[in-house]
Amino acid sequence: MKIVSVVGARPQFVKLAPIHKAVLAAGVEHVIVHTGQHYDPMLSDVFFEDLGIGAPDVHLGVGSGSHGVQTGAMLAALDAVFDEHRPDWVLVYGDTNSTVAAALSAAKMHIPVAHLEAGLRSFNRRMPEEHNRVMTDHAADLLLAPTQVAVDHLATEGLAARTVLVGDVMTDVLFEVRDEVAGRPSALVEELGLEPGAYYVATIHRAENTDDPQRLAEVAGGLAHLDKPVILLAHPRVVARAAAAGVELTQGSLIAHTPLAYPDLIAAALSSAGIVTDSGGLQKEAFLLGVPCTTVRTETEWVETIELGWNVLANTSAEIAAGVTRPRPVETDAAPYGDGHAAGRVVQTLLDARRV
Ligand code: UD1
Repeated sequence: MKIVSVVGARPQFVKLAPIHKAVLAAGVEHVIVHTGQHYDPMLSDVFFEDLGIGAPDVHLGVGSGSHGVQTGAMLAALDAVFDEHRPDWVLVYGDTNSTVAAALSAAKMHIPVAHLEAGLRSFNRRMPEEHNRVMTDHAADLLLAPTQVAVDHLATEGLAARTVLVGDVMTDVLFEVRDEVAGRPSALVEELGLEPGAYYVATIHRAENTDDPQRLAEVAGGLAHLDKPVILLAHPRVVARAAAAGVELTQGSLIAHTPLAYPDLIAAALSSAGIVTDSGGLQKEAFLLGVPCTTVRTETEWVETIELGWNVLANTSAEIAAGVTRPRPVETDAAPYGDGHAAGRVVQTLLDARRV
């Protein structure tokens, strides 16, 4: 049995880590294809190094571009890769342009495709990620859902027969890294001389928040007025858009910093007073770490974090300020994202599905 994993953007490298481990433990051949969507070392290489993935087997070097240019370049390059490897499964991750390109290419070559993190929906058709999710789910042969809510969405779209609930693989890697960094001081706290518990960690990179100069200025202004230092781990997208729009990413309480490696991010989040983000993964990581989250979006795919009180949606400056200063949420034993052993179930499901 041979699995080809196609990844390209930072959150996919995180999801790849536990899968790679579980695939190798099962004695299955694993070919890792990096599309090159993220090419900055701090968005790419450090994840392969820190999470023990090794180097990708194939690197397409696609780089940045408009959606059509970027996705099209991946599509053009993947045919030859799949043709050479003829895997039993192509495994695609999440909701990026790399995901939809690989799913489409494999489906057209009649190679079975499995979608990890299937069934998430924001129901916001302005988001590029929403189109990527919907199209990937409908192209894929096997839908590996992280939550019951995702399973229900897939059933509503007529995809129940291809769906398996496996849990969330990001939880696997998060628990492992949390235990590794526990008790160690955060490198960010030491570098910036921060007081543990007296700063916020922020990430902002979604097109909805970065691409309109007025919106970006509003978000940056809102963060700059918060009651504690806000360390903005600035994705290259927000740095580029801010420079073009003349928006300062270091002003008032707001301090721009380069993105962090995964263990450093988890350590910084653990010591923080709260997270402010528009990232999908970080909302869930905050919940799993017991850190209150304020999400700068009008909706979220990870609705469980909201229902359990650990996440609130905040769109205006006033809502962001109210979100970060709200009372600490009530502790919960609920485990909507699984038990930290999702990757093993993913591999077993792929093995079982091949035998039918
Ligand atoms: C992508 C995903 C998003 C995911 C995010 C995680 C899509 C449509 N979006 O968004 O779902 O949450 O990754 O980080 O696939 N850039 C660099 N260096 C890099 C990568 C990007 O400078 O290594 C800059 C380029 O100017 C590029 C811009 O960032 O144009 C956006 O990159 P892109 O890959 O299009 O989307 P992300 O914003 O990273």
